[in-house]
Amino acid sequence: MTNDKTPVSVIGVGRLGAALAAAFLANGHPTTVWNRSPEKAAPLAAKGATVAGSVAEAVAASPLVLTVVLDHAAARALLEPAVGDLRGRTLLNVSSSTPDDIRKLAEWVTGHGADYLDAAVMAVPQAIGTLDAQVLYSGSAKAFERYGTELEILGTTRYLAADPGVAELFSMGLLSAAYGTLFGYMHGAALLDSANVKPTEFLGLAVQWLNGMLAFLPALSKEIEAKDYTGGDSSLEINLHALRYIETASHDAGVDPGFVLPTLKLVRRRLEVAKPTHSVAGVFETMLGRS
Ligand SMILES: NC(=O)c1ccc[n+]([C@@H]2O[C@H](COP(=O)([O-])OP(=O)(O)OC[C@H]3O[C@@H](n4cnc5c(N)ncnc54)[C@H](OP(=O)(O)O)[C@@H]3O)[C@@H](O)[C@H]2O)c1
Repeated sequence: MTNDKTPVSVIGVGRLGAALAAAFLANGHPTTVWNRSPEKAAPLAAKGATVAGSVAEAVAASPLVLTVVLDHAAARALLEPAVGDLRGRTLLNVSSSTPDDIRKLAEWVTGHGADYLDAAVMAVPQAIGTLDAQVLYSGSAKAFERYGTELEILGTTRYLAADPGVAELFSMGLLSAAYGTLFGYMHGAALLDSANVKPTEFLGLAVQWLNGMLAFLPALSKEIEAKDYTGGDSSLEINLHALRYIETASHDAGVDPGFVLPTLKLVRRRLEVAKPTHSVAGVFETMLGRS
């Protein structure tokens, strides 16, 4: 029986790499795997994967090579001895790193004659292979088009930019927004804990409130893009008061105010150059170091 599906190699089969390799196997792609700790490759071998004896062997086995390890440095260190085999192939790096480190990795890879594509996986490994797995791509548009069918196996694909660092930049923007929400929720739950209110009692109102806040994002984005902070629904003054109340209430309740302090600092810095009645959205300029 012949298989005309693109061979794929996955270097690094920890939690995420194993899920990606399993998705390719489930869709009939000849799949070669390599992992620093060889025992992690065994369950994939049982599903039909070929276990490479070295990184170079894994690279040579497929035109599409994935690196799914700790970070850019681990990926590069693994690929160094196999760099001669990279020419003419596509490296799809799924390992997270900062955008600048990803750009340096991409430059090194393309300098050795390979196409570079970066993937930021906005999903847990269990979601891989379903449309719930959002996978963001940046780097070679040619490679993204060539391997479109293969990439669709992994989840919902979105190509963002030729700049290879942009997928990670989106990932970090989304994570930053998520951290603000989740840690803010925990701070609120800690405040309520001081009055013996359980998180599950706080939850319903918090979800309703946060959904309302999300509806505020389009107006906030418009204000920022127009760079007009004279209007808006929420003034610097009002937010300064609210944040100071939260700081004081935290101290009074014996709760660490650490979560709100950086935001309070940003609002105070903005107030050094903007009127108290101006919109709180102007803090965006302070974040960019423009004020
Ligand atoms: N899991 C997720 O939900 C998720 C989602 C999005 C992005 N990511 C990113 O995907 C990457 C892998 O995550 P994971 O969840 O699969 O982590 P994991 O389960 O901890 O696996 C880490 C993998 O990296 C390998 N590794 C680590 N350091 C290495 C080194 N110095 N040299 C060679 N191999 C090394 C490990 O090899 P050993 O088995 O030998 O230790 C293993 O294969 C990370 O960059 C992570 O940020 C993960």
